[in-house]
Amino acid sequence: MRRLVAETSLAVDDLLAPVFVREGIDAPVPIASLPGHVQHTRASLVAEARRLAGLGVPGVVLFGVPAAKDPEGSGAWDPDGIVQVALAELRAALGERMVLVADLCLDEYTDHGHCGVLDPSGAVDNDATLERYARVAVAQARAGADVVAPSGMMDGQVAAVRAALDATGHEQVAVLAYAAKYASALYGPFRDAVGVEIACGDRRGYQQDPANRREARVEVALDVAEGADMVMVKPALAYLDVLADTAAAVDVPVAAYHVSGEYAMVKAAAERGWLDGDAVLLEHLTSVKRAGARMILTYAAAEVAEAVHG
Ligand code: PBG
Repeated sequence: MRRLVAETSLAVDDLLAPVFVREGIDAPVPIASLPGHVQHTRASLVAEARRLAGLGVPGVVLFGVPAAKDPEGSGAWDPDGIVQVALAELRAALGERMVLVADLCLDEYTDHGHCGVLDPSGAVDNDATLERYARVAVAQARAGADVVAPSGMMDGQVAAVRAALDATGHEQVAVLAYAAKYASALYGPFRDAVGVEIACGDRRGYQQDPANRREARVEVALDVAEGADMVMVKPALAYLDVLADTAAAVDVPVAAYHVSGEYAMVKAAAERGWLDGDAVLLEHLTSVKRAGARMILTYAAAEVAEAVHG
């Protein structure tokens, strides 16, 4: 009866799995603060994507860890950069079986750890960054990305990326906009996963204040107007009100990012025997779906898919 009357059900089709690929390593490197996850080699990434595809997970979101960083983050648009190489290998191995989403940002590639390039005063230069994002989008599309996901929260990033894709014959590549992204303490394990340390300052200049709900409507509306095909709210659980507002306000598919800290804290408590981790993860992800997410980026994608398959 409960199944018959359930208003929400979580399905494998709702999930996108974030994955990390690191340049220049011979064996996968475990990520201590993200249990069950590793920085992949190119080969282990392909194997993991095949496993996820076998479990029915519709797509992966790719993050790169380059061997070297520079002030501009040029590894992000280098045709031989780690994400571009990995995208081409995934496409060759998987064909059309999986949606390949490329996170589009500079923070993994800049030596200062910011999501954009800096002006002489050390502040992030919004418009100079847009020009780099355009290059990254084209490089990722050429390498085989189905979707690019600008995550740096620069003003105008969706329009810049869309224009660059259209101008280079990549009209078919979709844009998943990190539209309402908060300056959250829940990204801690992710920054370990990609080896990012912010040398100076923080991200409050471009990410949103957790105190603000209405502001997210403005951010989301701008991204839709600039041509976003899908919009994302991030993190998920602490922002279910924002997610519900977003789902009510737009007609494009809405994504939520159940971020590294949200996953890690459940795992840590479960490891101590303080709660049933699998049950909590299912409850959390069901809540995210109930609040209005059509798709959820989560580090629990594989385990949820396994649970669903029984
Ligand atoms: C920025 C980016 C971040 C995450 C995804 N893209 C980190 C940040 O904004 O500091 C975090 C994801 C997570 O915590 O799982 N490129």
